[in-house]
Amino acid sequence: MIHVAQLFTCLLLAGYAGAQTQNYARYDHAMAYLGGYLFVAGGRTESKDFTDTSLVLSLGTRVNSNTPDWQVQNGTNVPRGNGMAMVGLSSKYKFQVVLYGGDIPKDTNQYSDHEFSVLGQPDGDWGFISQSEIPARRMGSTLTYAPDREVIFILGGTEQSDTDQMAADPFDHMYFPASENCVPVRMQSEAPSSRFNHGAVMLNSSHLVVVGGMESATQAASLDQVHLLDTLTQTWSQVTTQGSEWFQSLTSSPPVVYKQRLYFFGGRIQNNNQTLDSFLVLDTTTYPWTWSNETLKQDPDQDSLQGRYSHTTFAAGQYMFIAFGKTEQGETDELVVIDLENKKRINEFDPAL
Ligand SMILES: *[C@@H]1O[C@H](CO)[C@@H](O)[C@H](O)[C@H]1NC(C)=O
Ligand SMILES: *[C@@H]1O[C@H](CO)[C@@H](O)[C@H](O)[C@H]1NC(C)=O
Ligand SMILES: *[C@@H]1O[C@H](CO)[C@@H](O)[C@H](O)[C@H]1NC(C)=O
Ligand SMILES: *[C@@H]1O[C@H](CO)[C@@H](O)[C@H](O)[C@H]1NC(C)=O
Repeated sequence: MIHVAQLFTCLLLAGYAGAQTQNYARYDHAMAYLGGYLFVAGGRTESKDFTDTSLVLSLGTRVNSNTPDWQVQNGTNVPRGNGMAMVGLSSKYKFQVVLYGGDIPKDTNQYSDHEFSVLGQPDGDWGFISQSEIPARRMGSTLTYAPDREVIFILGGTEQSDTDQMAADPFDHMYFPASENCVPVRMQSEAPSSRFNHGAVMLNSSHLVVVGGMESATQAASLDQVHLLDTLTQTWSQVTTQGSEWFQSLTSSPPVVYKQRLYFFGGRIQNNNQTLDSFLVLDTTTYPWTWSNETLKQDPDQDSLQGRYSHTTFAAGQYMFIAFGKTEQGETDELVVIDLENKKRINEFDPAL
């Protein structure tokens, strides 16, 4: 049992630490990686619909996960909203972060309907791409860049920000950054149902996987089947999975891929009604694809990881970064780094490794 005086000291220390480093806690933000930087756009807190800052973190130097050196993006037209989708183009011909959708403050001069917000360099100004074919603004979509096809897939989302009204929009568009051309995706019977707050990630350079999400405010998408898109032929197929019986559904949990496995930390389960604190793996090297629970190793001095959702993830080689999100206590400012090869939470990311 902690003595009252000790507790008070802890609180004082916590207050002191808080005064030293800015607290950028948020959830429902967007994140993308480009050219050695992690970009974070917008997000919200319990008390504010829109955070004041969008951030950038260099991964070119060592990152201590307890004191990440987030810098505030200070160019012009920096996007600030929640429920947006964002991706970095690691393409030969273009260096660009593309952002789409979300809810934005009414009083700001930001991108609007049928527009992307785009960033061309780390400290730069954000610009816009306007096109009538870009779908109207949606919340909870995903943007996924398919390198073999040099195309971004805009998948799912909902036009309503009112959670009781949420109805998913169809999966439908792809955007060719080279020609700045946006066109509908040919839909087939094997394509995913309309959904939002799902996970979408490239399994390899040609195949995109869609997992989970909500089909409406109360109906989660089944996990017994996940969807695979061959981006070269634009053909959807369904893949059977096993092992998801106990958690049934998975939303607001963006996956990363390492060695043909999808890794998820946290998310919402049981029809969007419970926050998960597990580290889940979907192994695509077996048939059916197999879900499992993994135990994350951590050092005794590390606090146990709280469940969270509406966070963002990124994988650099064998390292998974988990940024911000919402826990049962509200928004968090945590940056968690996991060594996927050793299934261990680490305190420091070294880009040289
Ligand atoms: C903008 O931010 C960068 C770091 O992200 C910093 O080097 C630069 O001095 C800032 N510029 C202004 C005008 O604050
Ligand atoms: C990507 O993954 C899919 C599904 O497992 C597989 O069919 C395809 O051959 C893979 N492609 C490459 C280039 O590994
Ligand atoms: C979520 O859980 C609460 C309390 O357990 C329950 O009242 C509510 O109906 C549940 N909502 C859904 C959508 O399952
Ligand atoms: C995963 O962990 C949960 C909670 O500890 C447990 O109920 C469930 O049986 C586990 N599932 C698998 C597939 O290991």
